Amino acid sequence: MSLIDSLNWRYATTKFDTSKTISDNEIDKLKEITKLSPSSWGFQFYKVLVITDKKLKQRLLPTAYNQSQIVDCSHLFIFCSYRSVFEHDIDQMIVEFHRIRANDQNYSKESTDSYASGAKKSILNMNEAKQLEWLKKQCYIALGQLMVGCADMRIDSCPMEGFKSDEVDEVLDLNSQNLTSVVLLPTGYRSSEDKYQHKTKVRKPKNLLFEDK
Ligand SMILES: Cc1cc2nc3c(=O)[nH]c(=O)nc-3n(C[C@H](O)[C@H](O)[C@H](O)COP(=O)(O)O)c2cc1C
Repeated sequence: MSLIDSLNWRYATTKFDTSKTISDNEIDKLKEITKLSPSSWGFQFYKVLVITDKKLKQRLLPTAYNQSQIVDCSHLFIFCSYRSVFEHDIDQMIVEFHRIRANDQNYSKESTDSYASGAKKSILNMNEAKQLEWLKKQCYIALGQLMVGCADMRIDSCPMEGFKSDEVDEVLDLNSQNLTSVVLLPTGYRSSEDKYQHKTKVRKPKNLLFEDK
């Protein structure tokens, strides 16, 4: 199956089969796919919660306007961005850069340190609103990558913005961890009763979506 076939197979699943669970092995692959997402400066200033606890899903249901995917899915991914970036967050990632690249050919500690100062200048000088907007965008890149990965593995998913972020943050106590919920991805297996799987995809024609210059 080609990637295009997988993308045509994928649809925003509204009804999951509650009897089916994604295996630990596959969840581990989905985590790896998400982990490999690119991000601005390579800092990945977000955390992804993977929720299977039935009681917790039930508590989250009203925060998502009772959309049943929250409770019926196998694994609920919640992309949470940092609320704010502190100097120590950048330092922590730079330690990783040094550690992981130390044995690379042509590795230079100095150039990594100067990368860090450039990053600090750019990120720490953003005003609060701009920084948060920037942080949230990174979650969407990881979301997209995970969705495509799911489709490639014939795992269903539904991207969701229809939820009250402040209420999710409260249920999961995210504020105290400098985190805020950005976007959700329930994953699992489609129910044969989900009528949306039979709908033909509606997409802009290429001549409206693209302009070749
Ligand atoms: C960022 C984002 C947020 C969405 N939020 C919801 C949602 O809260 N509930 C829902 O049922 N579908 C949601 N959708 C699904 C879209 O309605 C769906 O992707 C779109 O109609 C295209 O259909 P397809 O994904 O089945 O091809 C969301 C999609 C995206 C990308």
